[in-house]
This record gives sequence, structure tokens and C-alpha cells, in this order.
Amino acid sequence: MASVLPLHNDTRVRPAAPFPHNRKLSTLGVLREMSRNPVAAFGTGAYTLPYAYARTWVQDFLMVNDPEGVKHVLLDNWSNYAKSIQFQRLTRPALGNGLVNAEGASWRFQRRVAAPMFQPRHLAAFAPVMTEAADETLAAWSALPDGSEIDAAEAMMHLTYEIISRTLFSRGVAMNFGKMASALALYLETQGRVSVLRTIGLPSWIPTWDDLRARAPLAYFRKELSQLVAARRRQLDASPADAPHDFLTLLLSTRDPEGGALFGEAEVFDNVMTFVFAGHETTANALAWTLYLLALHPQWDVRLAEEVHNESEVERLVLTRMVLEESLRLYPPAPIISRDSIGPDTVGGIEIRANTSVMISPWVLHRHRLLWNEPDYFDPDRFGPGRRESIHRFAYLPFGAGPRVCIGMGFSLQEATIILSAILRQFRLELLPGQAIEPQARLTLRPRHGIRMRVHRR
Ligand code: HEM
Repeated sequence: MASVLPLHNDTRVRPAAPFPHNRKLSTLGVLREMSRNPVAAFGTGAYTLPYAYARTWVQDFLMVNDPEGVKHVLLDNWSNYAKSIQFQRLTRPALGNGLVNAEGASWRFQRRVAAPMFQPRHLAAFAPVMTEAADETLAAWSALPDGSEIDAAEAMMHLTYEIISRTLFSRGVAMNFGKMASALALYLETQGRVSVLRTIGLPSWIPTWDDLRARAPLAYFRKELSQLVAARRRQLDASPADAPHDFLTLLLSTRDPEGGALFGEAEVFDNVMTFVFAGHETTANALAWTLYLLALHPQWDVRLAEEVHNESEVERLVLTRMVLEESLRLYPPAPIISRDSIGPDTVGGIEIRANTSVMISPWVLHRHRLLWNEPDYFDPDRFGPGRRESIHRFAYLPFGAGPRVCIGMGFSLQEATIILSAILRQFRLELLPGQAIEPQARLTLRPRHGIRMRVHRR
């Protein structure tokens, strides 16, 4: 299924993505580029070879683009791979030892307790909350003059934040969106990328300028969220039957199916932070990129509008789901999954040592020339009935795979489908001409300058 790299003078619509470069970079050069924007740092080799392996003076490094190798790392021998030190440096200040970062017995305990919170019955109970929040946003759009301009990235961030805060804390109690969003943006700007200084050995007790700048947003999150948790604990102690049905109540009251333990103080707090962070930005970006892709491909926009007009059951929206999956392929909101090997191993015939940095990049994997036809182009039919099955499970990883697969997958797909179908029923979004759309990886894959669109009623 190999296909050639796209030509620069290709006349079809090629959704925004950097062209793979052919420059030869030093180790420091690679680190600098990765720190700026990983998705622009990958060269042609990354998109054409199944593996890239290098022993450098910083760390041994393995990039895995072969689905069988990915399966080995994420599933078959997963316990030999810990969340990478780089990833932990970026996320631990905010997410502590919550589900995303925990390892070993602590992770197993947290996953057992959290898994029931994402069961279909809870997700079904969250659907009306999602619909209600989407309807409020769309009512606000309806009040605008036809053709008004919005930033789709910002609008989706606002909406998914509203949904995660209502599903976590119920209505009315939440951090103010504006303050939360600017604190989050500052955190991601300062902590959401690999630090060259740290990677080459700056000791952790010396704060970088970015670490210092991240202190204010972190203090803000900690203060606001600890107040919310403390208030709910008091409410649950006083009158458990009256507590709202939301994630916070579940985090405070769900018992380990093995042994009955509850989450402790730190586990509740770290997972509240984890759900806020992991639970809205990713889905918002997925939606923003989808709206962008639909604006570039009006024939798909029309087909989806027709589907959502005739069908309201989320499970029956086949084309909408295909478009979402294709959008998650082209713009995976979590573009890099990184691990450090604990002991030595052999991956795809390559012998690696302990503490090798192993990178699996959904961004690269989803655009790999050995795995996809015309990978840089939008073609939702890849996910159509009959063709979906031929995609290797480990070639398509928007939500990861193996035991550490995203726990919020069902939640976010339900949410994205509800929001997208609600938008498409009422509105057509048009891309404002002349803007630079630039995918930028800051932990998540964001449109660097937003996505400016005009809202038209259908
Ligand atoms: C489009 C939306 C989302 C995407 C693309 C996404 C992507 C991912 C990926 C790739 C992983 C695996 C990371 C790894 O293996 O290193 C992951 C893990 C995780 N995600 Fe998501 N996620 C999304 C939405 C959500 C939501 C809505 C929540 C919670 C409400 C959530 C919570 C988590 C948690 C807690 C983990 C860690 C699971 C564990 O290690 O046991 N995610 N996510």
C-alpha cells in the first residue's frame, strides 16, 4: 500500500500539515526542533521507515512506526515501558500521580476504581448534559448576525470545558472559563513542550524560566479545584443521597472492586486535575480540526448535514463517525506517545537497552507512507463499512492502545458526535480566507493561530 510523498505542486486540497523535510540535524538540532513543534520536526525518514534507532549522547532513541512493533511496546510487553521522563516532567506538575502518570500498583488500583465511572450507563447519563451545553452554544450562535466570525478552536474549547466542568462538578460550580483557559494556555506554553536544557541534563532542582512562569497557573488550578473538592466532601458527608450525579461524586464514592478501598485525598485531587486537562482540550481540538476539514470538503459537509437531519441516534450516525475517525487520523489530539524502556528488549529485531526513549507518534503513524494510501489527504471512506476492518489495530492510535488506552474514549466520542451533529443540523461553517492554519504540538495538537470561521445558518 506504499504511496509516494505528495508533490508541492499538487492541486488537490491538502489539509494543513508541514511537508516532511530532508534536512540532516544534529542531536541538539533534533531536540531544538522537537521542543519548538514536534510535528514539524519529523523528516522524510520518519514517514517512510518502519523504525528509526539512534544511540546519542543524550539517550538511546527508538521511533516505532511498524504496527507490530507498536503492538509489542503498548500491549505484548507493555510492562517493560514506563511513561517517559520527558512526559512526566511536562505533566506531573499539573496532574500529579493521577491515572495518566501513575505506574505499577498505584496505576492498577486507580484504573480499577476509575473504569466503572466510564461505563455506558454513566456515559448515557452524561448525554443530556452534553446536548444541553451544545444547545446553549448554538443558541448564542443563532443570536449572531448570519456570517459572523468565530474562532472555532476557542469556541470548541469553551464548549468542551463547559461539558467537562458540568460532568465533573455539575452545573454552576466551576472555574471561570476565561481565567481557566488563559491559565491552561500559559501552562501548555511553558510546560507543554520538551525542554532542551532538561533533556541534556539540567538538574530538576534548578527551575527553568518556563517552570517559574508555570507557577501562577498551577497555583490557580490547585486553589480553585481544592475548594470544589472540599465543598463536595462536606456535602457527601452531610447528605450523600442529595449529592449530584457527576464525576466528582463518583471519584469520592466509587470503591475498588477488589478490596473496597476508596480513592485517597491525593488520588481524588490528581484525577480531578487529570479529567479537566485530559478531558476537554483533546476533544475540543478534535472538533475544531473536524470543522476545519468539513469546511475544506463541502461535499462531506453536505452529506453529514443530510445524515444528521434524518437521524438523531448517536450510534446510527455512520458518516459522522467516519468523518470524526478520519479527522482523528489526520489530526490526532495526542500526537505523541512516549515511553522509556525499563529493561532491555528486542523490538522489530532491534536490540534496545534499558532507558531507551521509545516514541510512538500517532501523527507520524497516521501519515506513514507504508501504511496508508495518500495519507495527507482527507478520505473518510477509509473508515467506511468493509474498509475499516483492513486498518491494522496498531496503525491507528488516536486513543492509544493496550492496558493504558484512553479511559475517556467512549466519553469523548459520544461528546464529539453530539456536538458535531448539533452544529451541522443548524449551521454551515466557512473558513475565513487568507489565514495560516498551523498544527502545533504542545502535548496536544492545537491549531497554533486558531481557526477563524464564519457561521451561516442552514
Ligand atoms: C479526542 C479526545 C481524546 C484523545 C485523542 C485522547 C487520547 C489519549 C491517549 C492517546 C491516551 C494514551 C496515552 C499513553 O498511552 O501514553 C490517553 C490516556 C488517557 N486519557 Fe484520553 N483522550 C481523549 C479524551 C479523554 C477524556 C474525555 C478523558 C477523561 C474524561 C481522558 C482521560 C484519559 C486518561 C485518564 C488517560 C490515562 C489512562 C491510563 O493510563 O490508564 N481522555 N488519552
